[in-house]
Amino acid sequence: MSDDIAAALPESGASAAKAPAVIAREVQRRRTFGIISHPDAGKTTLTEKLLLFSGAIQMAGTVKARKSGRHATSDWMEIEKQRGISVASSVMQFEFRDHVINLLDTPGHQDFSEDTYRVLTAVDSALMVIDAAKGVEAQTIKLLDVCRMRNTPIVTFMNKLDRETRDPLELLDELESVLKIQCAPVTWPIGMGKNFRGVYHLLRDEIMLFRAGEEKADGAFEIVKGIDNPRLAEMFPLEIEQLKTEVELVHGASHPFDLEQFLAGVQTPVFFGSAINNFGVREILSALVDWAPAPRPRNATVRDVAPDEQPFTGFVFKIQANMDPAHRDRIAFLRVCSGRFERGMKVKHLRLGREIKVSSVVTFMASSREQVEEAYAGDIIGLPNHGNMQIGDSFSEGEQLVFTGIPYFAPDFFRSVRIRNPLKIKQLHKGLQQLGEEGAVQVFKPVQGSDIILGAVGVLQFEVVASRLLNEYGVDAVFEGTSISSARWVSGDDKRVLADFEAALGHNVAYDAAGNLAYLATSNVNLRLTQERWPKLTFHATREHA
Ligand code: G4P
Repeated sequence: MSDDIAAALPESGASAAKAPAVIAREVQRRRTFGIISHPDAGKTTLTEKLLLFSGAIQMAGTVKARKSGRHATSDWMEIEKQRGISVASSVMQFEFRDHVINLLDTPGHQDFSEDTYRVLTAVDSALMVIDAAKGVEAQTIKLLDVCRMRNTPIVTFMNKLDRETRDPLELLDELESVLKIQCAPVTWPIGMGKNFRGVYHLLRDEIMLFRAGEEKADGAFEIVKGIDNPRLAEMFPLEIEQLKTEVELVHGASHPFDLEQFLAGVQTPVFFGSAINNFGVREILSALVDWAPAPRPRNATVRDVAPDEQPFTGFVFKIQANMDPAHRDRIAFLRVCSGRFERGMKVKHLRLGREIKVSSVVTFMASSREQVEEAYAGDIIGLPNHGNMQIGDSFSEGEQLVFTGIPYFAPDFFRSVRIRNPLKIKQLHKGLQQLGEEGAVQVFKPVQGSDIILGAVGVLQFEVVASRLLNEYGVDAVFEGTSISSARWVSGDDKRVLADFEAALGHNVAYDAAGNLAYLATSNVNLRLTQERWPKLTFHATREHA
């Protein structure tokens, strides 16, 4: 605990009225963010360097080794034990400059699923990592779209400058035109690849010199003050001349950094560096601490909830099920939205109207120097449960409210389900209903016909569902390709039009697990034509949790 915070705590015997000040202080020092990137841009490498800075891990290669599975599980657990860390967690909490940082993993690669999207509904800012040799890639576009739904502020890191990259000006241009976000370069690269000399900090007028292979945690690179410093011209005359020309261009052609625009999600500060060399990483952490927002008020059904309110509130944005058939336990990931959570406190599960005592709770310290007994807005806590908690569930100390803005996303991949043993049809329906409610997969039942269509945003979701159906419900299901290529939820004011729509397109009109009407399109053209033919209906790419 920092001295500051200790000073703000009520002294023994002092009135508890001081507590709100403690909550406000704790909220102000929290930063909760996720990393968005396309596979291979360097998310894992950067995560590791961020943890190194905080002292949460001491050894480079730890997170990477976990990712590539180079260690057998037992070796890995041994490493975790020795270092007292759990980098396998999907949430990593660490401290930097007296701030509490919650880094939420956004699963990528084959793990890409709705979780990846939903994690972004639980963050206050995002770090976008771009491979500077490749520029903007498909997954980054999708993830940025999700950030845009809540105007999440984005910090951008252009990675791999130690390699031949694309022209930096061209990269900014692409960011602006493809991602529709204003770029404000904060650092500017001097050379690239073998000739990468460092970066120029446009706001501080100083140059940070690059040395390859720096794995040190302190990331202290030599700084030279002033672009006109004669030392620079001596060291690399050619590159400095080019830098001066480029900086003039950048000043003329790009936007100066503007904190308000950044906080509104309109502008992104851009940093250049090399994660593997630990170069530029400290600047990123500083930007998150100095510029990224502390937890902000959250929308709920009855009112907005401020993070420094005294009563505890929060919502579940992710469920992790244990794949081990012997343990049916699940962990619900809850983002604290207000107040102070204490181990053992009673909270109300608002959907079920049930009070629960939270005595076993999982917290996510990247370094286990201390056991966390309390949590504040922005923190994530894990609640073990037996399947009664769902994504979107809200919790409070009694006030009846539902947090909004935790959506389901229209799936991109579809399968129809068949079972080998028809006698198991009831179990199949029950299993799919529950997995659908939990958010593991989306389940659509067309109005006409007996097909069941499953939808996912990543194909691995189907494998997970098949395995869980078998292990948890004893159902051996076969998933087959279908002609469906996209889905949209449908709404309309006129009941007659909706009924006509169902009757006319029954094979492609379906209800999801929560009873919402959806249209299953066979192609983009088909979707567009349907939208044109039914102008009184609205087609949605996302839907809120019920
Ligand atoms: P991801 O989590 O976004 O998928 O990316 P990850 O960090 O795993 O990085 C993908 C590849 O890019 C890795 O190489 C990693 O070493 C490399 N990389 C990350 N940052 C930098 C950088 O600043 N410069 C350079 N040159 N490479 C970088 P790999 O070949 O897949 O793995 P490995 O053999 O290096 O371990």
